[in-house]
Amino acid sequence: MSKPRILVARAVFPETIERLKQHFEVESNQADEAWTPAQLIEKLRDKDGAFTTGSVRIDAELLAACPKLKICANMAVGYNNFDLEAMTARGVLGTNTPDVLTDTTADFGFALLMATARRITESEIYLREGQWTKWSYDMFAGSDIHGATLGILGMGRIGQGIAKRGAHGFGMNVIYHNRSRLDAATEAECKARYVSKEELLKTADHLVLVLPYSAASHHAIGAAELAQMKSTATLVNIARGGIVDEDALVQALRDKRIAAAGLDVFEGEPKVNPGLLTVPNVVLTPHIASASVPTRKAMANLAADNLIEFFSKGQGLTPLNPQVLKA
Ligand code: GLV
Repeated sequence: MSKPRILVARAVFPETIERLKQHFEVESNQADEAWTPAQLIEKLRDKDGAFTTGSVRIDAELLAACPKLKICANMAVGYNNFDLEAMTARGVLGTNTPDVLTDTTADFGFALLMATARRITESEIYLREGQWTKWSYDMFAGSDIHGATLGILGMGRIGQGIAKRGAHGFGMNVIYHNRSRLDAATEAECKARYVSKEELLKTADHLVLVLPYSAASHHAIGAAELAQMKSTATLVNIARGGIVDEDALVQALRDKRIAAAGLDVFEGEPKVNPGLLTVPNVVLTPHIASASVPTRKAMANLAADNLIEFFSKGQGLTPLNPQVLKA
């Protein structure tokens, strides 16, 4: 019997390709060419499955043009690149990579928070540019992490990881807002208190965004929300760029409406809002929160395992729309 045909739409670890080749007829993109939507459709037209990353859009138009496609395995926990409703309507399984990246991403969220509050990027640029000629009492004085109030918007696995780091490692007072409140045992484990979004904005010294992106969370932080935050507050976004209105954020940073921001995600990434490049009080990283070598390998393996499981057993290990699977 011939092997199922899959497309690996972005470059991945060579060992992942080798592993997939043991099970599938594989077309890959190890040159990491940027395909247009029409080119992606051409490549996927004759495929049974796809290995995707967050930049590969799977939408209704593509699905209509690729009727053989049965599964898209995303190497990411977020899946806003999938039109999951359209996939479900066509019986196409979507899978993601939860759990394996939780701690690495929470570590990074904390690193970005600390870099932002303690002005690490700004001060390094100053030093590298040769501007450091003498010490002064207020040079790059920022805000404290220990003992401060940590606000978390979106309290899933990664939000909980950040809460634990803050509460147990840095003695922070943790508050959170989420679509639904956590059970008492999980709140106790995270030492986190549920508050309204308004209270979160008003009382957090540091606000970390970890909520999934959807139409409902689009620009959840805009001018009105920034206006409610403390002028000494920092904002960190490791979720998705579209959650923050970047023009409003640039204005707030320029006006010192808030002290600083740390951003790992951007609305039009890999393009960065030019305004963000003109303000010094922002730390910018290129969507690398899950980028440790072991975690990226674990993500690639889980995406591959989902494809293998699906074509060998008709199941997914981490299915997003399990209703399309046969009972
Ligand atoms: C990264 O942003 C992911 O969703 O895994």
